[in-house]
Amino acid sequence: MELRTVDQADVNGRRVLVRNDFNVPMDDQGRITDDLRLRASLPTLRWLVDHGARVICSSHLGRPKGRRDERYSLAPVAAALSALLGREVAFVDDVAGGAARAATAGLGGGDVLLLQNLRFEPGEEADDQAFAARLAELAEVYVDDAFGAAHRAHASVVAVAQRLPAYAGFLLAAEVRELSRLLEDPEQPFVAVLGGSKVSDKLAVLGNLLGRVDALLIGGGMCFTLLEAQGREVGDSLLERDQLDAVQGLLARAADSGVRIVLPEDVVVAREVRADAERRTVAVDAIEPGWRGLDIGPRTAARFAAHVRDARTVFWNGPMGVFELAPFAAGTRAVAEAVAASGGFTVVGGGDSAAALAQMGLADKVDHLSTGGGASLEMLEGKTLPGVAAIPSA
Ligand code: 3PG
Ligand code: MG
Repeated sequence: MELRTVDQADVNGRRVLVRNDFNVPMDDQGRITDDLRLRASLPTLRWLVDHGARVICSSHLGRPKGRRDERYSLAPVAAALSALLGREVAFVDDVAGGAARAATAGLGGGDVLLLQNLRFEPGEEADDQAFAARLAELAEVYVDDAFGAAHRAHASVVAVAQRLPAYAGFLLAAEVRELSRLLEDPEQPFVAVLGGSKVSDKLAVLGNLLGRVDALLIGGGMCFTLLEAQGREVGDSLLERDQLDAVQGLLARAADSGVRIVLPEDVVVAREVRADAERRTVAVDAIEPGWRGLDIGPRTAARFAAHVRDARTVFWNGPMGVFELAPFAAGTRAVAEAVAASGGFTVVGGGDSAAALAQMGLADKVDHLSTGGGASLEMLEGKTLPGVAAIPSA
């Protein structure tokens, strides 16, 4: 799928409202701990600056629920973005009121301004028309580059796009193009590696991928609900009992369609989720009560890596274990390295797997590293995202 992109727009001297996803992780001091989403926004912003646009960036940060909350101010993002862009990004502590209007009116061609957090306004999440009208009045052209928020039918994503000539930024367009490739015409063999803690978050994507992949490799906390559904004892591992029926249905569908679901054969277990906890590597049928699986074991990691190595298309989402703690990071590292070394087309879904890749220095070794967590999963569930539907096709 191809969206109409910003390079089709006449932006010289015009005010362009850009919806970004600058929802970046920050530490207690307000320092940005992962700037992937900021760096990913640069191609569109540079293009707009180079073409004389008066650039008005906008984003949400966190979930302040329609109220002002200093902890979620975008001021630190304006500073970080200035450094990355190599030019001043002015900041206005207002979303769409008088101060925002004054700041946008004062912009010259090539100037860049960042508005305050969109979610300080109750109208944002409500997709409110009156709020959208105030936002739209700030600009003459709208560019959506917020792939990470494309699954949210919020005012800055949907209602504003109906009020201004709307274009996709280069990031949104690339995300949609690359993720669509996985669904539309993947080169076989196609292998998907899924992890993360909750199987309930992944059932829809597993179901949609089932008809398209040759094998589904499943690790992370979510694998224990599948192992339990196969009648194994999983000790104190994460378990979503209320998902057992759904998981059994999925396993039956996979068996019917000849898709291999590859589950761990060995796991690293501990009694506590702590880096210094005593740990053991055991077969999946030997997890004792009181112990919980915190990583896939080395035999499983090697098996997953071999599947990835032989694939022509790979999608990976979700860590294989508690990779934030070094003793439980080996499985995630093995998958990350296999994906990075693959000669096939490789796509990694955002969130924790993107963070793991970055932590391992492998972020630039995959064909497409998505900036969307929930958004990339919903796309692979086969849903039409509101933020994508709001932009005309090319
Ligand atoms: C994300 O980080 O998942 C996106 O920025 C969307 O944020 P949200 O889940 O708070 O809507
Ligand atoms: Mg989210």
